[in-house]
Amino acid sequence: MPDVRVLPADAWSRAVADAFVERLRAEPRLRVCLPTGDTPSPLYAELASRDVAGDVSFAQATVVLLDEWADLPPGDPARCDVRLRRELLDRLAPPPRFVAIDVDGSDDETAARAHDVAARELDLALLGLGMNGHVGFNEPGSRPEDPTRLARLAVSTREAAMARYGAAAMPSAGITIGLGRLLEARELWLLVTGARKASILRRTLRDPEGPDCPASYLRRHGRLIVFADEPAASLL
Ligand code: GLP
Repeated sequence: MPDVRVLPADAWSRAVADAFVERLRAEPRLRVCLPTGDTPSPLYAELASRDVAGDVSFAQATVVLLDEWADLPPGDPARCDVRLRRELLDRLAPPPRFVAIDVDGSDDETAARAHDVAARELDLALLGLGMNGHVGFNEPGSRPEDPTRLARLAVSTREAAMARYGAAAMPSAGITIGLGRLLEARELWLLVTGARKASILRRTLRDPEGPDCPASYLRRHGRLIVFADEPAASLL
């Protein structure tokens, strides 16, 4: 069983930030994969204020982006690079080295291959959990050995880009670090908040692993920590 840390909802972002700051202080050259989405936003706000306060420095760290919409234009507010810069990276001084996914300059296959190289030897990967069990853009049907690649998106994921993240148009595909690479990271942190994630978190952790819920494969990792708030953990 993974290490599941259940936290009161109003203490979640501070507790995860405490753990992250401790990790970064111990290993300033941390090579970390970061997700976007609504779940990590309060964590990033907390980390940015700790950087401003001088409690921690990202100066020597490398941040590798987890995933990116393949066909949203540069600067679209829903783009993962735009969002991560807005919520965290642009608020850090000095900023870490940032490895985005080159969806504008290269063809998709070249961009995926280059990012697969960047995703090697991660010290830590922070991950969100999709309502359908996806991790990054590893949608249902993904396999634990999948490489970093151009992935088709579930309809609910495409709709979320517009409805929840404010994309100007509906994306059709995304490039994501594959489960294979994620499982090679030295440590994984799965971030899950809110009552609407309770049933998929239960599926992720309690039922047999399977491609219907790609996040369930994360349990194969020997150092998986799940940071859940109480509403998300209510069905465990
Ligand atoms: C998105 C992203 C994931 C993210 C997940 C959960 O589609 N591709 O990387 O972790 O869905 O998003 P949220 O935190 O907004 O619920």
